[in-house]
Amino acid sequence: MHDAMASSSLEYERITFVLRPRRGPRRVILDAVSGRAAAAQTTALMGPSGSGKTTLIHALAGTLRSRVPAELSGAVRVDGEPAGARRRCAVVGQEDALFPLFTVRETLTLCAALTRRGEDPDRVAEATLRRLGLAKVAETRVGDPSEPLLRGVSGGERRRLSIGCELIASRGGVVLLDEPTSSLDAYQALSVARSLSGLARESRVAVLLSVHQPRAEICLLLDELQLLSRGRVVYSGPFAAAEPWFAALGHAVPPRFNAMDFLLDVLAVDDGGEGSRARRRLPTSLGGAAARRSRGAARRRRRSGPRGRARAGSSRCAGSRIARSSASRGRPSSSSP
Ligand SMILES: Nc1ncnc2c1ncn2[C@@H]1O[C@H](COP(=O)(O)OP(=O)(O)OP(=O)(O)O)[C@@H](O)[C@H]1O
Ligand SMILES: [Mg+2]
Repeated sequence: MHDAMASSSLEYERITFVLRPRRGPRRVILDAVSGRAAAAQTTALMGPSGSGKTTLIHALAGTLRSRVPAELSGAVRVDGEPAGARRRCAVVGQEDALFPLFTVRETLTLCAALTRRGEDPDRVAEATLRRLGLAKVAETRVGDPSEPLLRGVSGGERRRLSIGCELIASRGGVVLLDEPTSSLDAYQALSVARSLSGLARESRVAVLLSVHQPRAEICLLLDELQLLSRGRVVYSGPFAAAEPWFAALGHAVPPRFNAMDFLLDVLAVDDGGEGSRARRRLPTSLGGAAARRSRGAARRRRRSGPRGRARAGSSRCAGSRIARSSASRGRPSSSSP
């Protein structure tokens, strides 16, 4: 879309986030999470509720805040360089904050005028409209979904507009999104996922998104997968390889089950999730014998190449250290997970 976005990638190493309340025990939210989001690829971050997806996204974007005293450490590199003011990731949260009376084009043009000095706002807006498939609704008012008299663009278009605004404002070549498809119907969720996958491929940016229970067509758009459980990496590798990887550990997806639903159930057991189908179905969880097999398999994979848990421990980058962070200063924030 713009030059700054040419071929960008993200690598992170041993991201650790620990809450240290003044009273009570410390709590590890992210435990040495390492991974990468490659240029031109869409990487999904998945895991049971509370596994740390939102926390990781904000840690990578540098927008993590905590009311409780906390420590953040680890290394983040964008395009091989330490992440910082010049090389930061665009982050799109779950809430869309847009002016209902503006049109889609006006929204993007205003955003470009406010954030992209020295560039023609109309040109930036036009490029963004085309890139995110919003040209058809360029002159439609954004609207407010909670106001029947202010009906505007659809939920999926609204979400894509938010993504466009953040892309313009951040100039980032790496896009991080926290559940961009949640609260959308199946069709709109698919349209957002298609836009993101197209953005990754055509602009050669890295897209990392957290996602809950994606439908099969969305899964086909995802290149890589990182699975978290209790703040730890359980699997990191090609999306399509996750199912056979779990099968090799004794967790084969039963016939006619949605593979991702099943795998998340397996992790929910590991998380101590209650009432899960998997709890009744599986004699062991990844916390027990399967975990030992998992670690053995990871060691073998580490020796032979591709990843399972192996990537979690690899030291791929030695980039910018997130110092004992601003999170520990206890700043209140709306972006706190
Ligand atoms: N600043 C904080 N203060 C207290 N608890 C926190 C803080 N940050 C994260 N947590 C806790 O860390 C865990 C991970 O939270 P996070 O929101 O990252 O999970 P998630 O995987 O995004 O879950 P969901 O799928 O429900 O969105 C949760 O148990 C959450 O309550
Ligand atoms: Mg979350």
